[in-house]
Amino acid sequence: MCGIMGYAGGSPASGIIIEGLARQEYRGYDSAGIALRSDGKIISAKIVGRVSELADKVRELPSKCLESASGIGHTRWATHGGVTETNAHPHESADEMVVLVHNGIIENSTEIKDELESGGIIFSTQTDTEAACQLLAVLYGQCGGDALEAMHRLTERLTGAFALVIMFRDRPGEIWCARRGSPLVTAWDGSASYCASDPTALLSYTHDLCFLEEDEMARLSPDGLKFYGFDGNARGKKSIRLNWDSVMADKGHYEHFMRKEMGEQPDVLRLTVDAHTIVTNVALEKSISLPKGLMKKIRRVQFVACGTSYYATLVARDIMESLDGDIEIRVETASEYRYRNVRGGGDTLAVFVSQSGETADTLAAARIARAKGTHCIAITNVRGSTIDREVEHTILSLAGPEIGVAATKTFMGQISLLALLVMHLLKERGTLSASDEARLISGLRSMPALQQSVLEKEREIKALADKYCGSKGFFFIGRRECVPLTMEGALKMKEIAYLPSEAYAAGEMKHGPIAMLDEQLTVVALVPDTDLREKTLSNVAECRARKAPTLMLASDGDDGARACADDIIFIPRTEPELFPFIGVIPLQLLAYHTAKALGRDIDMPRNLAKSVTVE
Ligand code: F6R
Repeated sequence: MCGIMGYAGGSPASGIIIEGLARQEYRGYDSAGIALRSDGKIISAKIVGRVSELADKVRELPSKCLESASGIGHTRWATHGGVTETNAHPHESADEMVVLVHNGIIENSTEIKDELESGGIIFSTQTDTEAACQLLAVLYGQCGGDALEAMHRLTERLTGAFALVIMFRDRPGEIWCARRGSPLVTAWDGSASYCASDPTALLSYTHDLCFLEEDEMARLSPDGLKFYGFDGNARGKKSIRLNWDSVMADKGHYEHFMRKEMGEQPDVLRLTVDAHTIVTNVALEKSISLPKGLMKKIRRVQFVACGTSYYATLVARDIMESLDGDIEIRVETASEYRYRNVRGGGDTLAVFVSQSGETADTLAAARIARAKGTHCIAITNVRGSTIDREVEHTILSLAGPEIGVAATKTFMGQISLLALLVMHLLKERGTLSASDEARLISGLRSMPALQQSVLEKEREIKALADKYCGSKGFFFIGRRECVPLTMEGALKMKEIAYLPSEAYAAGEMKHGPIAMLDEQLTVVALVPDTDLREKTLSNVAECRARKAPTLMLASDGDDGARACADDIIFIPRTEPELFPFIGVIPLQLLAYHTAKALGRDIDMPRNLAKSVTVE
């Protein structure tokens, strides 16, 4: 949830750390801090607010600090302790020997704190992190200044999840890291070492990255990286080359990352389809290589994810179900899957979908499935992420780095891959007809141009957002393939515009929610021209009869729909199963322009962070 940056090299560290924090600010942005060296001491600067304010404060530090060739920084999403300067990281031990930043939750912090306080150590924050900091200082003293031994003992004592990045006052030029449960990536560019929570922070320096494994530590210095297990034993490690371009993580001329990323969706889809299909055939076997004959033995398929990624799996379920009614499909949010007694085993295939590959619930769910002998596949956007390293097979999404907190292009990357995966699996199972395969592949191939035409309706959608942004809330309704999109549309509206938004299967409205409707609650109805058009239009009529203003998404040429809504956005026709690929774009634009009209902080909405690495 928080963003960490560390540097040990020959150049002034402050600019590198501020830049790294700015690139990771989407991970958490309630407060920020930095620690630098000056005259044998470690000096910290912290603020409540954004990284740009930290940069202003850093400029006022003594010039020696600005020359410091090593340092660590942090941008916080508060878990333990309020959002104050005192609780912001870095934290310092009472003897000023240890300064550290932390991402995660130290579960036994109260116990450690009680123990240390009874020994006379005075704590000054309400954070769980301070317990790790104070304890490390004590252990370091007890080990006679042996950093490796102190780190080993610290990691033995801590429970919970942590990525820790540490400076010792008497070890200039060295930074120590430890990882359990929270991501941390390191790199050496030949003259300096770096660490960060997120690879995008390191791409301006190198593309060769060393991701820390679970229960692994690292020592960073200008001479390179050294890796150790929590037991203190040295380890070798190969770097992974990440072919992301640092420009991909820049906003360019756009006002918001979210807007830029929405516009990249046709390219994401095109890239994915080109990478995994040949003319009218799925060619996913190259990147998935499941054991031969596996799909013939699989009796059930499970899709597991959180948030927008979960809605992507609902799209996959609908496509799979439409093509093969016999296979048992289960779709579950990871936060529930992990606590339910879900059936698994060798006749089950589970597909875990996570943009970041670091979502705590999704990782826990995958571990549970593996322990049951279930075959596990991951779809993730981040090579080297925890889920990538923990499951049998990973299929990388080709969306590139996504910086806006609200997922847009990664949703597109996920549904593109999921559609191809579903077809591949059914082909292996022998239940995908050649005509369905050709129909869907050609539908996907022609989709980017159609998506582009919807992106070009931005002015029209902005005008509708301006008209409806004063609503007290929204109801998103639709049937079958539209239902996942009602959820995604409502989520986008909630997370960036902060407006109450419900998603409902249109046929369910009259079982209760219709009571909420009046002239101040806007209904967004998804009504593509399919066999369910008439039924959905009846549901829309029921809403209008309760005076709810109605905004409809309808298929190009469906002139009859015009009279059925107050406003209408026409979008191109597609194969019914592929409607989510086109329908999601106006919903993203509607949420975006509503949020903009309301003056919201679109790329960094309140109370959120990009990856949820705590439970
Ligand atoms: C919404 C959003 C979140 C994520 C969810 C899962 O716009 O971004 O709902 O989809 O936190 O994250 P990943 O996919 O990283 O596991």
